[in-house]
Amino acid sequence: MYIKKVILNNFRNYDREEFNFKENFNIIFGNNAQGKTNILEAIYLSAIGKSFRTNKDSELIKIGEKKATIEVFYERKDRDGQIKIEIDDKKNFYLNGIKQKKISDIIGKVHVVLFNPDDISIIKEGPAERRKFLDIMISQLKPNYLHILNTYLKTVEQRNMYLKQIKFDNKSEDLLDIWDIKIAELSEKIFEYRRYYLQKIAEKIKDIHNNITNCGENSEKIEINYLFSGNSKEDFYNKLVKNRNIDIKRGFTSIRST
Ligand SMILES: Nc1ncnc2c1ncn2[C@@H]1O[C@H](COP(=O)(O)OP(=O)(O)O)[C@@H](O)[C@H]1O
Ligand SMILES: [Mg+2]
Repeated sequence: MYIKKVILNNFRNYDREEFNFKENFNIIFGNNAQGKTNILEAIYLSAIGKSFRTNKDSELIKIGEKKATIEVFYERKDRDGQIKIEIDDKKNFYLNGIKQKKISDIIGKVHVVLFNPDDISIIKEGPAERRKFLDIMISQLKPNYLHILNTYLKTVEQRNMYLKQIKFDNKSEDLLDIWDIKIAELSEKIFEYRRYYLQKIAEKIKDIHNNITNCGENSEKIEINYLFSGNSKEDFYNKLVKNRNIDIKRGFTSIRST
């Protein structure tokens, strides 16, 4: 797919602006603070439903205005499409002019991979950053993955609530099993998706790295491995059970997949 056109209204520093792009390769250049990253932010929003720079949607609206809109026109092998986002005190999403109920209904239509100077954190920071990077990528390719992730997060939240009830309301510990079994199953699915797509990246990255470094046989080599402490639902389940006492004391789940 590629993005043909972006129209911004009252988005960041733009009143109304239209950008036309070519297939394959586009360079956006301009002075500092002219609005280059703002364009990328708008495109990112059309793919992921949120900004990579802020959690506050109000920052996206041009100062002094009440409502911003982003329209992104894309061309795909199967068919063309248009994503529109209206931002005021809430966000509304439209696909080909039809209002969508949830953010997840537009994810996966426009595909983006963002790489900016902050992304060095994928390497430098801890595993949570790396998992987040993978999760954003896979969610665009497999809507079902996003669904599994959301279910996982909700289930952990429910487990955390129950942990507090055990601690403060003397609820039975036995019922924890219900959450632990479910979380273990979801963890296994999440793990399988991540491992599959990491393998795909690992296959490609060698060629890309070779092309960049271009030093032939003895050059530095690159490899990606997924280091994991468990990979089956039994593993995940056993770990949850092992940590139950600590979890009850703390009131939250210490073994996490996200
Ligand atoms: N909500 C907003 N309303 C008006 N201007 C904004 C808003 N948010 C950011 N800007 C302006 O956008 C500009 C920064 O745009 P940016 O895309 O980050 O620049 P660059 O071209 O350097 O990447 C700054 O001039 C900033 O004041
Ligand atoms: Mg910039």
